[in-house]
Amino acid sequence: MSHYAELIASEMSIDEEEIKGIRLAGLLHDIGKIGTYDYLLDKPGRLNNEEFDIVKKHPEQGAAILKDIKQLNDVIPFIQYHHEKLDGNGYPHRLKGDQIPLGARILHVADSFDSMTSDRPYRPSPGLDFALSELEKFKGIQFDHEVVEAFLRVLRKSLEWSARMPSE
Ligand SMILES: [Fe+2]
Repeated sequence: MSHYAELIASEMSIDEEEIKGIRLAGLLHDIGKIGTYDYLLDKPGRLNNEEFDIVKKHPEQGAAILKDIKQLNDVIPFIQYHHEKLDGNGYPHRLKGDQIPLGARILHVADSFDSMTSDRPYRPSPGLDFALSELEKFKGIQFDHEVVEAFLRVLRKSLEWSARMPSE
């Protein structure tokens, strides 16, 4: 996921320092999940509302864990807001559009793509084609339009590149 975030940030010509910050935030984004409720994260089947409310606390918990580390001051908001959605239907603060820092908008796209292309205890991966069509469908709604466009360019390049490689 942090690799995807880094690729998007580079494609968007963001400055080198900020790219590093986005990559770091990608590595730490779910640190707020640590310890407290592994049993929920490994649970097969859907979470009930109460359980999901607990999981929804992880961005704030992550920010709280890291808050005293001065070097991370700039990247903590990326972690804190990585589940906010462009249209205001995300969590924890239902921020909208530009209220969400660009780094967090990038992490949200990278994280969603990573999740859709990975198996979870409660479901198999929906697959690459599904993930790509979801990014298209929700760009400008849930996902930042430019972030999705940049990611699709990067993915297209790498898919073309791998198609040219010998199959062995
Ligand atoms: Fe998360």
